[in-house]
Amino acid sequence: MVSARRPLVAGNWKMNGLQRSAAELTKIIAGAGELAARIDIVVCPPATLVADFAARARGSAIVIGAQDCHAEVSGAFTGDISAEMLKDAGAQAVIVGHSERRSTHQETDAEVRAKALAAWRAGLIAIVCIGETRAERTAGHTNAVVQTQMGESLPDGATAENLVVAYEPVWAIGTGLTPTSADVAEVHGVIRQRLGARYGAAGHGVRILYGGSVKPANAGELMHINNVDGALVGGASLKAEEFLGIVNVHR
Ligand code: PGA
Repeated sequence: MVSARRPLVAGNWKMNGLQRSAAELTKIIAGAGELAARIDIVVCPPATLVADFAARARGSAIVIGAQDCHAEVSGAFTGDISAEMLKDAGAQAVIVGHSERRSTHQETDAEVRAKALAAWRAGLIAIVCIGETRAERTAGHTNAVVQTQMGESLPDGATAENLVVAYEPVWAIGTGLTPTSADVAEVHGVIRQRLGARYGAAGHGVRILYGGSVKPANAGELMHINNVDGALVGGASLKAEEFLGIVNVHR
C-alpha cells in the first residue's frame, strides 16, 4: 500500500558512545547519500555527545536526537537535562517513554506525557515509545496495553510534524526476537486507528516506527508491513554499516 508518510529510521545508542564514536556518525553521514532526500534519518547518541554530533551533522540530512528529557525547563533537578537544553545543544528530536526508562526509572504514562509536552515546548519532535511485556502478550493484553499507553502517554495536539510513535514490544528489545509480521501489522493497525480517532487527519500523518531487534537481515520484511513507517534501532545502530543496512531497505 502506498503511504504518503516519509519513512524515518532512528538509532538509539542508549548508554554507548565516546567522543571517538563520532567516526560512526561520519560514516552514516557519508553513507546516507541521496537516500536522505527520501527518508528521515535520526541518530540519538548519549547526552554527552549531542552537541558534538549536532555540530558534525549540521549541513547534512542527518538529524540528531536525544534519549530522554526532564519535563521542566530548568531548576533543582540534579543530573537531569531539559528539552530546552537538548534543543540548545542542537537536538531536533527526543525519545521519551522508552521501556528501559519506564522499567528502570519507574516512569509512568503521566510522566512520559509531560516529557512529550516538554519536547514540544522546546520545539523538538517527540518519539514516544509504547509496547507490551512478554507476560502481557501471553495474556492476550497487547492491544489493550498499547491503547492505554497511547491514551495516557500522548498529549493532545499531536501533528505529523511533532509526534512519532515507536511500537517496541519489551520482549523484543535486545533479545533477537521479533513478533511475526502479522502481529506487527495488527498492533500498528490498532495504533493507526487510535491516532486517527484522537487526532483526526493529523493522526493519519503521524509516523509509527517498529522497534525491537531490527537488523539489516529482518528490516526488509518489517519495514514493508502496512502502517510501519520506519524503525527505532538499538544495538544495530551502533555500527554505521548495520544502521545503513537498515536505512537502505527503503531504497
Ligand atoms: P534493539 O533496541 O534494537 O537493540 O532491540 C531497540 C530499542 O530499545 O529501541
